[in-house]
Amino acid sequence: MAEQIVGLDIGTTRIHAVIAEVNEQGVIEAVGIGSTPSQGLRRGVVINIEAALKAVNQAIEAAEMMSGREVASVVTGIAGAHIEGINSRGVVAVTGKGREITREDINRVIDAAKAIVIPMDREVLHVIPQEFIVDDQGGIKNPLDMIGIRLEAEVHIITGSVTSAQNLLKCINRAGFRVQDIVLESLASSRAVLSDDEKELGVLLIDLGGGTTDILVHLEGAPYHTDVVALGGSQVTSDISIMLKTPIDSAEKIKLEYGCCYLPLIGEDEEVRIPGVGGWPAAAIPRQELCKIIQPRMAEIFNLVREQIIRKDYLKHLGGGIVLTGGGALMPGACELAQGIFGIPARLGIPERIGGIVSEYKTPEFATVMGLLMYAAETVEGRTPVSAAKKGSTAMDKLMKWMKEFF
Ligand SMILES: Nc1ncnc2c1ncn2[C@@H]1O[C@H](COP(=O)(O)OP(=O)(O)OP(=O)(O)O)[C@@H](O)[C@H]1O
Ligand SMILES: [Mg+2]
Repeated sequence: MAEQIVGLDIGTTRIHAVIAEVNEQGVIEAVGIGSTPSQGLRRGVVINIEAALKAVNQAIEAAEMMSGREVASVVTGIAGAHIEGINSRGVVAVTGKGREITREDINRVIDAAKAIVIPMDREVLHVIPQEFIVDDQGGIKNPLDMIGIRLEAEVHIITGSVTSAQNLLKCINRAGFRVQDIVLESLASSRAVLSDDEKELGVLLIDLGGGTTDILVHLEGAPYHTDVVALGGSQVTSDISIMLKTPIDSAEKIKLEYGCCYLPLIGEDEEVRIPGVGGWPAAAIPRQELCKIIQPRMAEIFNLVREQIIRKDYLKHLGGGIVLTGGGALMPGACELAQGIFGIPARLGIPERIGGIVSEYKTPEFATVMGLLMYAAETVEGRTPVSAAKKGSTAMDKLMKWMKEFF
């Protein structure tokens, strides 16, 4: 029997809801998609519950209409400048019969790695094992049944602000839906667009959103670095609005129709029509001029990301290159500009692994919501949850308990 799963990506500029079916083989088929402008968020975080819940309802209603189904629970994403990723390590002694490593030992060593001091106002969202070390042998992905005396685990811990997560939960609950799981948005996008080979070789995912740019580095198959740059596509639009003295919505239209962030891609004779506003006549400017407004901002975003990656010394470990997702990745020239700034290949991250959707939705904007569906599919009852999703739901349980106590 196929089960219903729902992914809900509440972004700063757009909300995407996708209803899908997952069968026993784990094949996911989307049956309804809703995508509406967002409200009540700032830089990835809910700041007005009433406004945000209306927008959530609109997106879910649109997906319900398309599919003729009803939504009861969702898997949602979380993002924002409050998200932090840290690497930690834990050690335990293997004490069981024959010194064989059991599931219990693995849970204990992950708990030991998790036992770091986390401020009261932060919540653990994910604990993802990177590698296990048995005695002195490192690089082990699954130590179950191995024999050893000492078991070590290296993990990536992702934490977020408790209040941000609560506001997100409250918003979705008040809209009338149960939250089955909360997943870091960049982890969800990674799930949807990165190949195992890329993760193994080392890959930098850059999610160019409206309010923020989220980054996630995978090395040797696991996440090692999570970060957020507090700049996104909205800044590009507001630059255009200021420089061309045109209102924000007209600047956004100009950006979507004529925008490009890499000068060599534009011919000298290409022109951009700027509609007349407030009695001013319509005008035309060379498209290269528009690019000269957009490119520096996009370059600033990529340079901020590059600085972080260099600070952590990860740049030379990115054999799998760069993958761009989020609406901002649709800007012509984004891959070329990234490639120039980082000096390694960059490609678009297109979610291809979900069936039942038309090509219109196979774009980098839908990477997060499609990844959320993949997480949702793994936590459907009866299927073995992956460690990350499982840890995510543990954090959720805690949050839920907190919510019940306080609201
Ligand atoms: N074709 C396009 N060319 C350039 N930019 C685009 C294009 N389509 C969308 N964008 C930009 O992408 C941004 C929205 O991306 P996305 O939907 O991924 O953001 P979000 O998820 O709502 O925001 P966040 O992830 O920051 O919370 C907007 O700034 C929008 O202008
Ligand atoms: Mg987003």
